[in-house]
Amino acid sequence: MTRLAGKTALITGAARGIGRAFASRYVAEGARVAIADIDIARARATAAEIGAAAIAVELDVTRQDSIDVAVAEAVQRLGQIDILINNAAIFTAAPITQITREDYDRAMAINVAGTLFTLQAVAKHMIERGIKGRIINMASQAGRRGESLVAVYCASKAAIISLTQSAGLNLVAHGINVNAIAPGVVDGEHWDGVDAFFARYENKAPGQKKREVGAAVPYGRMGRAEDLTGMAVFLASDDAEYIVAQTYNVDGGNWMS
Ligand SMILES: NC(=O)c1ccc[n+]([C@@H]2O[C@H](COP(=O)([O-])OP(=O)(O)OC[C@H]3O[C@@H](n4cnc5c(N)ncnc54)[C@H](O)[C@@H]3O)[C@@H](O)[C@H]2O)c1
Repeated sequence: MTRLAGKTALITGAARGIGRAFASRYVAEGARVAIADIDIARARATAAEIGAAAIAVELDVTRQDSIDVAVAEAVQRLGQIDILINNAAIFTAAPITQITREDYDRAMAINVAGTLFTLQAVAKHMIERGIKGRIINMASQAGRRGESLVAVYCASKAAIISLTQSAGLNLVAHGINVNAIAPGVVDGEHWDGVDAFFARYENKAPGQKKREVGAAVPYGRMGRAEDLTGMAVFLASDDAEYIVAQTYNVDGGNWMS
């Protein structure tokens, strides 16, 4: 279990959920990780639970100054950044007639601009140091097709698939591989919020939407954060050297492409 021995990783939004599972698995694989999150108190608690190979770094991906400081801090404390996982994102949903500009701007600022400009800052560092780095973006099955009540989040994740293609093609010349993971439905605090949304708009009992989406997964249940970690290790490993600009579905069979 040491496929990432000696490597360093910056993982955004890793205080909880899928990002936390990535951080924990990366450390188990021999890496040292920076847990970069806007919720610094929780990031610190998560880092302390994972152990000495994890550090917490405060990061708001919507602010360029915060990205610059967080990347510099991670470089200073870890030595360099070999792997970036752009994982921070928020869910938002509303019927088309009720989408507000405020909600749109916030989701796009975190999910899309946050991913692009964190990727840019880390790519600059990798190029400067000649690091043959790995960048993994978090897309979603929501980026594969639109959903009636989820226009903005779906559009933001479709943008991640596209950005992964462009950045992958641009950065491969520097020996940096950019790829993405598209999860399906992964239980956790994120999906607690999704469930509450559908309870409101589809008049469902709390927990009902989760049961429905879980039953609809060909594998037979919702995903767990840990189900995503194998792909995140593989994409960061030497075995993925020839994989460029791709988005992989890890979703129990929900989507095929
Ligand atoms: N959970 C799912 O079903 C699912 C499905 C498909 C894709 N995804 C994607 O996987 C990733 C992780 O999802 P999750 O379920 O763990 O989400 P989550 O909501 O549990 O965690 C998101 C983390 O991002 C942090 N964050 C929010 N705004 C930030 C900002 N401005 N700057 C820095 N950090 C910020 C939060 O504090 C939190 O720790 C996201 O990109 C999400 O869109 C999740």
